[in-house]
Amino acid sequence: MTLRKILSHRYATKSYDRTKRIPECVFAELLEALRLSPSSVNCQPWHFIVADDEKGKARIGKSTEAAFRSNHTKIMDSSHTIVLCARTALPETFLETVLEQEQEDGRFPTEESRLMTHKVRSGFVKLHQQYGSVSAWSQKQLYIALGFLLLSAGFLKIDATPIEGFDEDLLNEELGLKEKNLTACVIVTLGYRDACDVNATLPKSRLSEEVLISRA
Ligand SMILES: Cc1cc2nc3c(=O)[nH]c(=O)nc-3n(C[C@H](O)[C@H](O)[C@H](O)COP(=O)(O)O)c2cc1C
Repeated sequence: MTLRKILSHRYATKSYDRTKRIPECVFAELLEALRLSPSSVNCQPWHFIVADDEKGKARIGKSTEAAFRSNHTKIMDSSHTIVLCARTALPETFLETVLEQEQEDGRFPTEESRLMTHKVRSGFVKLHQQYGSVSAWSQKQLYIALGFLLLSAGFLKIDATPIEGFDEDLLNEELGLKEKNLTACVIVTLGYRDACDVNATLPKSRLSEEVLISRA
């Protein structure tokens, strides 16, 4: 499939065929797309929570029961659902974990380059701590991972829906996220479109290139 075809074939799926399940080897590719997503200074300020059975989906679904019923059906009929969470704090211990991983992955030819990487990353984090914008910064990075996930799903012919229509406090409570310095930002349901999903047949609508793009 060409990139253009993937971009027009994918859409926000409104109704899933609950009898179809994503093969685990394909789902593993989607998790890898999340893991390999880029972030500012490689800080990876995120965590992803997967629900691949009825119990897990019901836990996530609770946050859509009262006010977002149509999203509840999507979660329960999906093959897999993922909650994309942003870190609300980036303590030194977390930054050291990132640094150790980079060391293990062979990113540092010299001790000097290791120290410099840590200094630059910590500098960015300190700035955001000063401005009280760590959470907002993490969320910006998280939406890059969302884009990677949606495009990868399209490439793998998996249907998906990004969902912001849920009760964030309720989901944070259900998954015990606050005490882990995490907050749920967006849910993504994944699976296969139902044959009668009307949204699949609607044409795409976007503002024109003239409105959206200009040149410096
Ligand atoms: C961050 C985000 C949150 C969204 N939240 C919901 C949602 O709660 N429920 C829903 O049905 N669609 C949701 N959508 C889908 C959008 O309405 C959809 O992507 C948009 O209308 C463009 O259509 P397309 O994705 O089919 O091309 C969301 C999309 C994004 C990117």
